[in-house]
Amino acid sequence: MNKVILYCRPGFEKECASEITEKAGALEIYGFVRVKDNSGYVIFECYQHEEADRLIRELPFSDLIFARQMLLTGELLRDLPMDDRITPIVGMLTGAVKGAGDLRVEVPDTNESKELMKFCRKFTVPLRGALRAQKILAVREEPFRPVIHVFFIAPGCCYVGYSYSNNNSPFYMGIPRLKFPSEAPSRSTLKLEEAFHVFIPRDEWDERLGSGMYAVDLGACPGGWTYQLVQRSMMVHAVDNGTMAESLMATGQVIHHREDGFRFEPPRNNVYWLVCDMVEKPARVAQLAADWVVKGWCREAIINLKLPMKKRYEEVSQNLALLRDALKENDIHSEVHAKQLYHDREEVTVHIRRFWSAVPGRRDER
Ligand SMILES: C[S@@+](CC[C@H](N)C(=O)[O-])C[C@H]1O[C@@H](n2cnc3c(N)ncnc32)[C@H](O)[C@@H]1O
Repeated sequence: MNKVILYCRPGFEKECASEITEKAGALEIYGFVRVKDNSGYVIFECYQHEEADRLIRELPFSDLIFARQMLLTGELLRDLPMDDRITPIVGMLTGAVKGAGDLRVEVPDTNESKELMKFCRKFTVPLRGALRAQKILAVREEPFRPVIHVFFIAPGCCYVGYSYSNNNSPFYMGIPRLKFPSEAPSRSTLKLEEAFHVFIPRDEWDERLGSGMYAVDLGACPGGWTYQLVQRSMMVHAVDNGTMAESLMATGQVIHHREDGFRFEPPRNNVYWLVCDMVEKPARVAQLAADWVVKGWCREAIINLKLPMKKRYEEVSQNLALLRDALKENDIHSEVHAKQLYHDREEVTVHIRRFWSAVPGRRDER
């Protein structure tokens, strides 16, 4: 197996391809990318066979912005016989994987693949049985073992491979399944909820997304993101000239400031979260978030960078570099991750976490 498949949002294959080429190159792993526009995936073929396994172990999945999943695979299996699709798939995995912890039969996230997905669901059951019989798959689900992926790109045509459970997306097709809460004022509420799932480990939610925390939401209206914070029993300063949903104001947990988000200063010094969904130039938003973190105005931030321009990978890379440089220049101990979430369209979401150290000259609470 010498190929790495990356799932991505259809339309972002070029960004995903540029990113994997650059980041594999930084590990001195070289190869070429196969890109088909709007296919929802990219294939990076390594020149050296054994390098592909090293790539999926050593390139942190969380460093990839445009990839929803990363797995190792071999040649495409074509024209699987209708009466026995299982034998060639088992053959491909024999000797490559033993005692895997999970099986995911998946498709690209495209409209054309929707029909194929119904087949995948049905096919999973007999395939799972066959893989268990051969001990390729463990008898029970094992969260710390490799995951087998069978990726159907057309009927009778699939890639077969695996990912490592400590360096992959834990979600089927790399997409967390979230239900839109009917009381939320806008669909973009799911963007922030997904960001929590992707950036904050579940066992840290109580500590880092806990009740009673203070948050600032810049560009808050009508309140989809504020809704998520209110749901987690936080107190929210919502900043926007627009109108906030009445239902949120009625909770008593929200103070609405009709102000410019770029000029707003936190009214208290114990704000934990900054979230920002303002439609603005990415460089301005990245700089604003850096300023907040450097000044100690928040501990963690989730910001959305809009990408209406052509060179989207370059734009994101430049802005992340700007953000990281600003934090480094000010000796801020922090981490920055970015991901194009499933609920992101022409945009990516960035998470910044500051590890606490005293901030000289912090303002007193007003
Ligand atoms: C994409 S919407 C935010 C949607 C919101 N996150 C939600 O879930 O409902 C962008 C918002 O940013 C606001 N906005 C844009 N520039 C702003 C600025 N300089 N200061 C404050 N708000 C701004 C707009 O008024 C708009 O309501």
